[in-house]
Amino acid sequence: MNLRNGDIHIRVMTYLEVRPLRLEVLRAGMVNQTVEFDGDDEVTTVHLGAFDQDGNNVGVSTWMKRAFSPEPDLTGLQLRGMATAVHLQSQGIGGLLLDAGLKHAQKNGFDVIWANARDAALNFYNRHGYITIGEGFIETVTQLPHHKVVKYLRR
Ligand SMILES: CC(C)(COP(=O)(O)OP(=O)(O)OC[C@H]1O[C@@H](n2cnc3c(N)ncnc32)[C@H](O)[C@@H]1OP(=O)(O)O)[C@@H](O)C(=O)NCCC(=O)NCCS
Repeated sequence: MNLRNGDIHIRVMTYLEVRPLRLEVLRAGMVNQTVEFDGDDEVTTVHLGAFDQDGNNVGVSTWMKRAFSPEPDLTGLQLRGMATAVHLQSQGIGGLLLDAGLKHAQKNGFDVIWANARDAALNFYNRHGYITIGEGFIETVTQLPHHKVVKYLRR
């Protein structure tokens, strides 16, 4: 399936709405099927989703107010649960979600956006202005190699 410009719209979702796509994309083939994140229901947490023209949810992302540990004085926004439906990956949906999250961060005065990124997705984040920092690590739920990525809005 090929997308055209304007086929996708982004809107705020509830934490219950984002979990099916998290499960489908982020936990495929994994022993650990956990898709509930601590903080999903906090008032400062925002879930941004992508929808096709038929109203199908084709992308999810979760943005939580969380300090960036190397720089605790900055107001940090953590990106979690970033996923695009498998059949629609590499067509720009993830980029639209990062753009929407960036707008949310700017509007709400965050200083820095950060994420624990799968190594397989590092290029994606780097192309969107996120810098890879620190040593790699194995994330406990997925058991996949990760690095921290960070994007400064203000310092
Ligand atoms: C990582 C992920 C969220 C990115 O979402 P996406 O919708 O595929 O992202 P985009 O399409 O905006 O960009 C992905 C790639 O497609 C390319 N792309 C974007 N639009 C394109 C288009 N119209 N035509 C061709 N390629 C395109 C981009 O250059 C990008 O390449 P890069 O990753 O090498 O930088 C998605 O691949 C995914 O869900 N992966 C599995 C789960 C995962 O790893 N999540 C991240 C956890 S940290």
